[in-house]
Amino acid sequence: MKAVRLHKYEARPVVEEVPDPEVVKPFDVVVRIGGAGLCRTDLHIVEGQWAAKTEVGLPYTLGHENAGWVHEVGSAVEHLKVGDAVILHPIVTCGFCRACRAGDDVHCESQSFPGIDTDGGMAELIKTSARSVVKLAEGVEPASVAALADAGLTAYHAVKKAVPLLYPGSTCVVMGAGGLGHIGIQCLRAMSATRIVVLDRNEDALGLTRDWGADETVLVDGSHVDRVLELTDGRGAEVVLDFVAEGGAEREAWAMTGRAGSDFVIGYGGTVQMPAIDVISTERNVVGNLVGSYNDLAELMALAAAGRVEMLTRTYPLDAVNDAMDDLEAGRLRGRGILVP
Ligand SMILES: NC(=O)c1ccc[n+]([C@@H]2O[C@H](COP(=O)([O-])OP(=O)(O)OC[C@H]3O[C@@H](n4cnc5c(N)ncnc54)[C@H](O)[C@@H]3O)[C@@H](O)[C@H]2O)c1
Ligand SMILES: [Zn+2]
Ligand SMILES: [Zn+2]
Repeated sequence: MKAVRLHKYEARPVVEEVPDPEVVKPFDVVVRIGGAGLCRTDLHIVEGQWAAKTEVGLPYTLGHENAGWVHEVGSAVEHLKVGDAVILHPIVTCGFCRACRAGDDVHCESQSFPGIDTDGGMAELIKTSARSVVKLAEGVEPASVAALADAGLTAYHAVKKAVPLLYPGSTCVVMGAGGLGHIGIQCLRAMSATRIVVLDRNEDALGLTRDWGADETVLVDGSHVDRVLELTDGRGAEVVLDFVAEGGAEREAWAMTGRAGSDFVIGYGGTVQMPAIDVISTERNVVGNLVGSYNDLAELMALAAAGRVEMLTRTYPLDAVNDAMDDLEAGRLRGRGILVP
């Protein structure tokens, strides 16, 4: 089959022929890819940001945001049949550890993360496990929802954690209205009555956000932190969802977080650093966020089915992965790029 393979850090991946993945273990499921989302994390992987954390052997196949159709199932898989349209929770979990039993898939003690530390879904086929497969409702096209598997799931998970803090009258700042952010804004609108203030450095991205539920938009132009403080009577926001957290955005997110507020770090690349006295004297929190659970994904699918969350996507053929990466890197891509084999 064809797959997008990373051979070397700091170099673009190549599309090449590799052997098809096969069912080996009883709970294995091989899925034919209908759509694989391109995430800024794929750029971070190419930059080598994950190399020391995952120690993944190169070459390997990228793609951690996948949907498609069941192609082959292991002998123990009874609830899926060949041809079922499915979306994949991005992590392959054991099902037996304490975290798994609590439904906290992200912290499974014995996990793999296709596209991050093992072969992913920018290919014709991907191997996952039965626990990670969510069936799609009748008539839903996999490529149309693939962005929910990671961009949507991560945004939903962070918003769900933030909602108890977002009482009516509160303000939630959203930094970055890209792949994750555009879904995060819609989740906020669907799940809270907070005032949503969206920041982006790209005017086109910002221009789209009112339709998704933004109450205020602020262009990142150097005066944006002051503008947010002005909008909050000098107090800062109860919650900042930082979908950027690099290039200084991580410092601005902290500066826009009000007393007793929470700075949700979702993007990465930068360094989150602040004097301890600022943390204690204002009781501000820094909250880490890593994708989301299987149930988070199932809940998000329900929001999407109800029309409360819509995805803005642009599709590219699998062979055009590097055009898609160029567009993402140059800031030309609105919403999410989806590779279709
Ligand atoms: N925590 C997780 O589990 C998780 C999961 C997926 C992605 N991510 C990370 O989340 C981040 C966002 O990913 P994405 O795929 O949505 O990226 P994206 O490129 O689609 O969106 C980023 C948006 O932020 C805007 N932006 C860039 N710099 C900015 C700045 N300084 N201030 C304000 N806006 C700015 C861009 O114009 C763009 O609209 C990346 O760092 C990605 O690696 C984290
Ligand atoms: Zn991602
Ligand atoms: Zn587990």
